[in-house]
Amino acid sequence: APSGAPLPRERQSVPRACTAQEIERFFRCCSLSDLEGAARKVCERVHGHAVYLRGLIEFTNYCTSNCLYCGIRRDNQKVRRFRMDEGQILDAVQQGLSMGFKTFVLQGGEDPRWTVDRICRLVESIKAATRNRVAVTLSCGMKSGDGYRKFADAGADRYLLRFETSDPELHVRLRDGQTLDQRLEALDHIRSAGFQVGSGFMTGLPGELPETRLDNILLCQSLGLDMVGIGPFIPHPDTPLAGQSSQGIELALQGTALLRLALPLAHIPATTAAGSIVQNGRELMILHGANVLMPNMTPEAFKKSYLLYPGKICIEESCARSLADLKESLFDIGRALSFERADAVKLAHWR
Ligand code: 5AD
Ligand code: SF4
Repeated sequence: APSGAPLPRERQSVPRACTAQEIERFFRCCSLSDLEGAARKVCERVHGHAVYLRGLIEFTNYCTSNCLYCGIRRDNQKVRRFRMDEGQILDAVQQGLSMGFKTFVLQGGEDPRWTVDRICRLVESIKAATRNRVAVTLSCGMKSGDGYRKFADAGADRYLLRFETSDPELHVRLRDGQTLDQRLEALDHIRSAGFQVGSGFMTGLPGELPETRLDNILLCQSLGLDMVGIGPFIPHPDTPLAGQSSQGIELALQGTALLRLALPLAHIPATTAAGSIVQNGRELMILHGANVLMPNMTPEAFKKSYLLYPGKICIEESCARSLADLKESLFDIGRALSFERADAVKLAHWR
């Protein structure tokens, strides 16, 4: 039977990260099932049977950006826009806390009403209300270098900013003129501010080449990411990419396995997008090396309007219900949910 606790550290040895050359060879030559086996072994050596939980709160779907793939892009007039206020967000945190969550991810569009200073005060309130017992992860887009420092000073612990694709030309086209270099510079600022850093990409974007897929992995490795979120691109009907086809889940599974081999210690979530294109998508990602789940704790009234892509799962049910289902399906694959805070694993802290 799976146990929530990983093996005691003294019984583990640090798995070596594969080199870029090895990753390239695996990418070109290995079958998905070979990658799956190798990645799962590495993941179990590092994280045992534990799958760490993060409570996701989607606190605003206003966005001044206009990414071509995204359902809440500025120009999508069909979206019913919402922004949660401080009280509603603190309520959601309290509810998560009572269920045992020790990490909250505040995710939102680039909303001018949720200014850097206002988000700072929110982080301080969450830290105070929970007597510093939870980790706060921010995922609210591009800010100035100064902005990230203010977030860190306010007590935020982690920051997520996907680079979305490593192909510079595709990046600028899909992200409404923003360059990959600007995105990478932001990640630099995030690191300098002292955050545990998360990034990642979508798989199967229209215009992506096989080379892009390899480069996505190598870029994550060279950024030395603490957390990597990836998921399949799912065309949204009310975006300019409406007519494009979805490439299915395989590329995301291949990406997950290669990431685990490239970054053995990283926290890699089994993402909602994966669970939205196939019914057992998140379980499959865990079998391919993912070790984190992010149940959605956004209040029911709002989460229906946070549709980056169509077919999103868990919007009809409560967080408690999703959690009970996840617990069961993880048990079936030999894993156990863990409420540990699970900060970034640094080699220096290994033993
Ligand atoms: N399909 C899949 N993932 C998407 N995201 C945005 N739009 C889509 C889509 N149509 C992802 C982006 C973003 C994350 C929050 O959601 O990678 O960073
Ligand atoms: Fe805004 Fe993020 Fe969607 Fe781009 S992907 S439009 S920045 S919410």
